Amino acid sequence: MTVRFVSVSAGPANLEKPDGGVWCIVVAAGSGQRYGGAKQFDLVAGRRVVDRSVETAAAVCDGVVVVLAPDAIGSSAASVPGADHVVSGGSTRAASVRAGLAVVPDDAAVVLVHDAARPLATVALFGRVVAAVQGGAVAAVPAIGVTDTIRDVDGGVVDRDRLRAVQTPQGFRAANLRAAHAADGEATDDAALVERDGGTVALVEGETTNLKITGRHDRVVAEAILAERADQGGDSSR
Ligand code: CTP
Ligand code: MG
Repeated sequence: MTVRFVSVSAGPANLEKPDGGVWCIVVAAGSGQRYGGAKQFDLVAGRRVVDRSVETAAAVCDGVVVVLAPDAIGSSAASVPGADHVVSGGSTRAASVRAGLAVVPDDAAVVLVHDAARPLATVALFGRVVAAVQGGAVAAVPAIGVTDTIRDVDGGVVDRDRLRAVQTPQGFRAANLRAAHAADGEATDDAALVERDGGTVALVEGETTNLKITGRHDRVVAEAILAERADQGGDSSR
């Protein structure tokens, strides 16, 4: 993987919005197999997972597209505060991103892709990702160090100092994201598709609290993190 580390100090307050603006696609069309249901509509500390993700995206971006499963479209679940468009997704994450991308305005300069299942990503993290793309990166993804000792199933222990766990929101120059998805490729994230298309991926500092709700216990952890943020005087809704 070709990676480039960038240092970004810009917070949301000093973001410059380029012509065409910054759009975010929040993908929420999964079925939550490992969770045992549609986790994006479950409540975390009283608010739906998808609503939390969209609220944070909307605080930073000029527009937000929410991608939902076809059976949620037209139901009360599809009412998402802060969404500019709500569209029907596909059978894979990449297909859902493409469905969202289809309604992002042509003049958008930067497009972020965020998993609805990561409701704890902060405004500051969104700001770092946007700033990295506006600063020249083709693609910028949040990444954190790995704390477990990692072992290759066919080999020994892998040097974890060389490993990073990648999160969302991921940010892209709009033209590069569109080109990467033009071939209808599949990958677990968008940065991998952009990289396959020849783009270099920059890493920005991720957040250890930016967990992806995957199993049932993640909801419990998310509520504990929000309670801690509230105790520290932060906005518990974020
Ligand atoms: N997603 C999507 N469309 C799909 C599959 C996934 O929009 N066809 C979204 C999910 O809703 C989630 C994000 O992509 O917000 C990351 O996917 P993941 O955490 O794997 O969620 P699910 O696919 O729903 O869960 P599982 O893999 O356990 O079924
Ligand atoms: Mg999945």
